[in-house]
Amino acid sequence: MHVSRFFKALALLVAFAAGCGCAAHSGAGADAAGGPQAQIELGEKLFGKHCAPCHGRSGRSGKAPPIIGEGALPEKPPSGAKMRSVEFKTAADLLDWTKQKMPPGSANALSESEHAAIVAFMLTESGKSLGGRTLDASSASSISLAGR
Ligand code: HEC
Repeated sequence: MHVSRFFKALALLVAFAAGCGCAAHSGAGADAAGGPQAQIELGEKLFGKHCAPCHGRSGRSGKAPPIIGEGALPEKPPSGAKMRSVEFKTAADLLDWTKQKMPPGSANALSESEHAAIVAFMLTESGKSLGGRTLDASSASSISLAGR
């Protein structure tokens, strides 16, 4: 019988799982370690604070262009755009640009993971699926913005 070996293996497995310090188990935080839904909720809060003053609470109204909803975030810069000269083909293009340019004049106020959370919120609000994944630089490059 190999019962004791089985229990040893089980004990090892439990010890490993309990001791796991990986991001997915360390609770929600600014790095959105709580998973996709926590990231979107964090993004909503940050959006309200840092983006809504110009883009509106819904992201669809305000003195700045709409950035949520149908027709928002066209692939090519809107005519008359002063700051944007790049195309938004994937979520990574969008994330890169907002990281560098938004909010205007204080882009460094937000961390990379905070920008990622905001973009995750903007895209899901616009009806785009993130495929159940947390948005980061690598997953963003595989999310096409076409067909919005
Ligand atoms: C002080 C006002 C202000 C704030 C705050 C602000 N924006 Fe903007 N945003 C603008 C303006 C103005 C433009 C138009 C830029 C241009 O002319 O190219 C813009 C454009 C954009 C665009 C490009 C839209 C398009 O279709 O070209 C995105 C995306 C964007 N903002 C995201 C954000 C995000 C995300 C935040 C919060 C982190 C934010 N903005 C905060 C003023 C603001």
